[in-house]
Amino acid sequence: MTIGIIGAMQEEIKLLSESMTIKESKNIGMRNFYVGDLFGKDVVLVFSRCGKVAAASTVTTLIETFGVNLVIFTGVAGGADKSLNIGDIVIADKLVQHDMDASALPPFRKFEIPLLGVDTFEASPKMTALAKLSAHHYISESMKADVAECYLKEFEITTPNITVGTVASGDLFVADIQKVQSLSREIRNLKCIEMEGAAVAQVCYEHNTDFVVFRVISDKADKEAGINFPKFIEKTASHFTCGIIKQFINEA
Ligand code: ADE
Repeated sequence: MTIGIIGAMQEEIKLLSESMTIKESKNIGMRNFYVGDLFGKDVVLVFSRCGKVAAASTVTTLIETFGVNLVIFTGVAGGADKSLNIGDIVIADKLVQHDMDASALPPFRKFEIPLLGVDTFEASPKMTALAKLSAHHYISESMKADVAECYLKEFEITTPNITVGTVASGDLFVADIQKVQSLSREIRNLKCIEMEGAAVAQVCYEHNTDFVVFRVISDKADKEAGINFPKFIEKTASHFTCGIIKQFINEA
């Protein structure tokens, strides 16, 4: 089995790339795909850049050129559920493209991908359960590990909560609480907002490939988001992605 691992930004995969034994690097479509061994598994690691097109293009290359059987997307997100705090972990069981709206053209519904007939992409229950279990193991391990020092200290995170729910993706960095509230009214069980997950989920759906989307909350998609996001990305995000993926691929 080969696992494709994507983060949108270099900062989000920094520790993963440092933990990997890279056997080969291939530049395709202006991206470097690192092929090698990560925690004893065959992986292809890449950062996609931000947004749905970048993510969709990257995951297509992972599936078609590298033949990956499982795609893991990881990185940060803006919290939409009021009970979530910075540092909390979200595992996507459903993903929606919140900026897709062809509803002015009947019979399409808001968020439905026209001519695909789908508005919500679902992760497999098996992968979701495994992701949840490994996130819990990661949290109990990381509480002891010094690798999590900055994660805990810089953001005063004590024990991150782990939640499973809907992730909304769109080509928009949300820094507006009213936008968060309107999306929360429209999308059931919305947990967080980001810019890639549902595009990855659509490509995986079309190629019948398993996927997992792990997110950590970097901001609350409010007017502070432009400050909290870069602060979280700078050092902390990479500890989370490396720790949780290590746990997940050990258990997969
Ligand atoms: N990723 C992290 N925070 C985000 C936000 N506020 N909007 C969109 N994507 C994000």
